[in-house]
Amino acid sequence: MSKFPKDFLWGGATAANQFEGAYDVGGKGLSIDDVFSNGSHTQPRRITKDTEEGLYYPNRIASDFYHHYKEDIALMAEMGFKVYRMSIAWTRIYPTGMESEPNEEGLKFYDAVFDECRKYGIEPLVTLSHYEIPLAMTNEFNGFADRRAIDCFKRFATTVFTRYKDKVKYWLTFNEINLATWDNGIGNYLVLGVRNEGTKDYVHQVDDPQVRLQGLHNQLVAGAWAVKIGHEINPEFKIGNMIAMNPAYPYSCNPEDVFKAERNWQSDTYYCGDVQVRGEYPFFAEKYWQDRGVTLDITEEDRQILKEGTVDFFSLSYYQTLVLTSDDSVQKSESMLGGVKNPYLKSNDWGWAIDPTGLRYLLNVLYGRYNIPIMVVENGIGAYDKLEEDGTVHDPYRIAYLREHIKAMSDAIEDGVDLIGYTMWGCIDLTSAGTGEMKKRYGFVYVDSDDYGNGSFDRFRKDSFYWYQKVIKTNGDDLS
Ligand code: BG6
Repeated sequence: MSKFPKDFLWGGATAANQFEGAYDVGGKGLSIDDVFSNGSHTQPRRITKDTEEGLYYPNRIASDFYHHYKEDIALMAEMGFKVYRMSIAWTRIYPTGMESEPNEEGLKFYDAVFDECRKYGIEPLVTLSHYEIPLAMTNEFNGFADRRAIDCFKRFATTVFTRYKDKVKYWLTFNEINLATWDNGIGNYLVLGVRNEGTKDYVHQVDDPQVRLQGLHNQLVAGAWAVKIGHEINPEFKIGNMIAMNPAYPYSCNPEDVFKAERNWQSDTYYCGDVQVRGEYPFFAEKYWQDRGVTLDITEEDRQILKEGTVDFFSLSYYQTLVLTSDDSVQKSESMLGGVKNPYLKSNDWGWAIDPTGLRYLLNVLYGRYNIPIMVVENGIGAYDKLEEDGTVHDPYRIAYLREHIKAMSDAIEDGVDLIGYTMWGCIDLTSAGTGEMKKRYGFVYVDSDDYGNGSFDRFRKDSFYWYQKVIKTNGDDLS
């Protein structure tokens, strides 16, 4: 018997910058992703100031959803999606982020997309900013490092909430906002639109914790404003946060390892989670700032708005877990998360540890701490797929991965967690955020394009397409 509630929101997820393409169509402005070059597992993506001769910028073309949205939404409907998580490209609505009036053509595009979803009874779940900041805001005032970004975001959020108030009910503010807590600085560019002098690529960003954590504070304030404004525009809106969950395990029962893992939960999950759910920074924040030599500018109005703009549900991405130890001799993990290798787990071809039980574990921890509904809005496996001559794609590894993770969610529901939905990441193949590759594929649907945008862009159903269709039809009962 299925443990999933009757109205469980089954579906898939994409993001505008990795999926839409058409970067210069319909009055769209450049976003930070349009000057983010391609890379690979071993070659970091370049962050350039403007277009550079000789570099390829994969997000500009991506999967060309812009011209395929009808076909793509029909495929989602065929699988039985109840929900489709997507994002709005900020730069289609405000090309530089700083205009006083929105771009009508951009607004019309999303009207058409939402109408198409509604036609099939698919509920859109819309991220306001999924790694997406207008490039002009970065060039002009370094993105969220400057408080001007808060007003730009408020204007953008107000415009889209008002326009789509009868078409969209579920919203998310910023994608994986907690990446901006990582001390390696990886969240500077994609999350905050911050590009520090000297930064050349994604993996080796020049980091200034003062700038980054102030930028994160500004973004948390902007997100809280959006929640408040959204609820005023339509009290029926359900607005969530979005945290990248990378649960940390201690490598051993050495108390040093255990405390190291706890510290990681604090900075990676609770720092943003507490602000967004509880409306204030957690108890350890003062020490956290001191340790990094940071003094934040937090106004009384900020504190007030953080209290008033708390989220209705907690959403998260989950791909892998992390293992921490104070023992330097243990073999390091290959994942960009860092940490050491987990001897009990296998990894995908990009070194990401596959850990379904980790999902059950984190759902229990989060629900215990926050006690609000939870949605898993990203999960999946990036893999090399092969399109056969007859147009089929056999991806048993994807089915196996998803089966185990869905089983883990079912167990968590049985544990008592209020889990309301699941949107598998990259339901139709798209450009990888980390590497810019197309060949790191997640989808139920294969898109015929290579890492350089060569191909027909035709869509092909993989074996997992039919498997997920059955899972949804039986409300998670039949995972065979
Ligand atoms: C999440 C992001 O971190 O992971 C997505 O929200 C991203 O945008 C996904 O695509 C998978 O990562 P990658 O690097 O394989 O694309």
